[in-house]
Amino acid sequence: MAEPGIEEKRKGAAPSAGAAQKSATLQYDGKSYSLPIVEGTESERALDITRLRQDTGLITLDSGYGNTGACRSSICFIDGEQGILRYRGYPIEQLAEKSSFLEVAWLLLYGELPTPERLTGFTREITRHTMLHEDFRRFFDFMPKSAHPMPVSAAAVAALSTFYKEADTEDRVFRAIVRLLAKMPTIAAYAYKHSIGQPPMYPRNDLDYCSNFLYMMFATPCEPYYVDPVVARVLDLLLILHADHEQNCSTSTVRLVGSSQSSLYATIASGISALWGPLHGGANQKVIEMLERIALEEGSAEVFLRKAKDKDDTTRLMGFGHRVYKSYDPRAAILKKSCKEVIERVGASSKLLEIAMRLEEIALEDDYFVKRKLYPNVDFYSGVIYQAIGIPVNMFTVMFTLGRLPGWIAHWLEMRKDPDTRIGRPRQVYTGHRERAYVPLDQR
Ligand code: ACO
Repeated sequence: MAEPGIEEKRKGAAPSAGAAQKSATLQYDGKSYSLPIVEGTESERALDITRLRQDTGLITLDSGYGNTGACRSSICFIDGEQGILRYRGYPIEQLAEKSSFLEVAWLLLYGELPTPERLTGFTREITRHTMLHEDFRRFFDFMPKSAHPMPVSAAAVAALSTFYKEADTEDRVFRAIVRLLAKMPTIAAYAYKHSIGQPPMYPRNDLDYCSNFLYMMFATPCEPYYVDPVVARVLDLLLILHADHEQNCSTSTVRLVGSSQSSLYATIASGISALWGPLHGGANQKVIEMLERIALEEGSAEVFLRKAKDKDDTTRLMGFGHRVYKSYDPRAAILKKSCKEVIERVGASSKLLEIAMRLEEIALEDDYFVKRKLYPNVDFYSGVIYQAIGIPVNMFTVMFTLGRLPGWIAHWLEMRKDPDTRIGRPRQVYTGHRERAYVPLDQR
C-alpha cells in the first residue's frame, strides 16, 4: 500500500491532487486489507490496488478497462455525466471559439497556453519541417493504390523512424514532435494523392497549417487552387475538437507501446492503427455510409433505428453512444452548429445533414436510447462536415489522426516523465486447459 505522503512525491500528479485521504477495506479469505483511495483535482476517486496481488494473491478483472485507471494524468478532463471536456483546465467550448489548432497542440504538449512569441516560434518550426525526405516518395509508390490511407499513414509514420534518429535527448524529442506535427499532413495528403493516382503536391510554407493541408489535398500541378479561409477555419476547429480525449483506445495504445520505450514514431503509428477501427476513429466513415444508405431508401430512418435496437441484428446507430459520455458529447454540440454554416458556405447538399438531424431527433425520444443514455458523439456530425468540404470518406479517419496527434504525443511526454511509469503488462484469468500430455501426430 502507498505510504502516507507518497502521492505528493509523485512528480506526474496534478499540483493539488490529494494524498490518499481515505481507504476502503477489502475482506477476503478471513483477512482484512486496507486499500488507499487516491483523489484527483476534480474529486475523482480511485482505489489504489498497486499492492493487491502482492498482499492478497488476487488480480482484478475488468474487461474493456471500464473501471481501470491506468495512470495519473493532467492533460484532459472529461465528466461524461455532465458533458464536460477540458484540455489542461480550459473548456473545449472556449478553445473551439477562440484558439487555433497549433495553440491547442502547444497547450496539450506543454501544459500552458503559449505566449505569442512561443506560438510564433513553434508555428515557424512546424512550417519549416513539412517536407518529406525525397526518398519517401518511393515508399508511397510501393503501396497498392487501392490501400486504405489509414494503414498507409500508419506505415509511413512508423517509417519516419528509419529516417530520423531516436528521440533520446530533450532536443531530439522536441525535433521529433515538430517533425510529426509538420509531416503528418504531408503524409496524409501524399497517401490520398497516391490512392487517386495524382502526383503529390509539395507543401507551401506561405500557408497556415490547415490551408497547406487543403492545398496539398486538392491542388494539382495543372491548375491553381484557392483555399477558402472559412473551410480552413472549420478544419482547424475539427482538429481542435479531436486533439485529445484522455485514455481512449488509441491513446492507451500509445501509452502501452511507449511504455516499452519504443521509438516515438513507431509508438504513434500504433495509435493510428488503434484509431482505424470502426468502433473508434473509423466511426465517422461508418456514419456517412449509414446516412447514404438511409438516403437511398427513402424514409428508412425509422427502419434503421429499429434494426439498431434489435438484439439479433448487429447494426448500430453509428456516431451514437460513448464509453464515457452519458449525456450529449460537447464536441458534437459544437459541430452540429458548424454543420449548417459550412454546408451553406460551400453550397453542398444538406440531405445527409437533414437525415442525421432526423435520426438524432427520433433516437433522443426513443426509450431504448434514453434508457442507455446514448447520445450523438463527435463522429455523428464530423463526417457530414468533412464530406461537405470535399474530404473523401476513406480519409475521414486520417483527419481524426491529424487532430489526435498532439494528444497522443502529450500523453507520451507525460508518461515518459512520470516516475511511476513501468512497462504496461496486464494480467489475465486463464481459462484454458490444465496441463495435458502431447499426443504425437500419428495418434490423433
Ligand atoms: N446503437 C445501438 N445500440 C447501442 C449503441 C449504438 N450506437 N451503442 C451502444 N448501444 C447499446 C448496446 O447494445 C448495449 O445495449 P445492452 O445494454 O442492451 O446490451 C448498451 O447500449 C451499452 O453499449 P456498450 O457496447 O456496452 O457500450 P460501450 O461503452 O462498450 O461502447 C461504443 C461504446 C463502442 C462507442 C458504442 O456506443 C458504439 O458502438 N457506438 C457506435 C460506434 C461509434 O459511434 N463509435 C465512436 C465512438 S467516439 C470515438 O471513438 C471518437
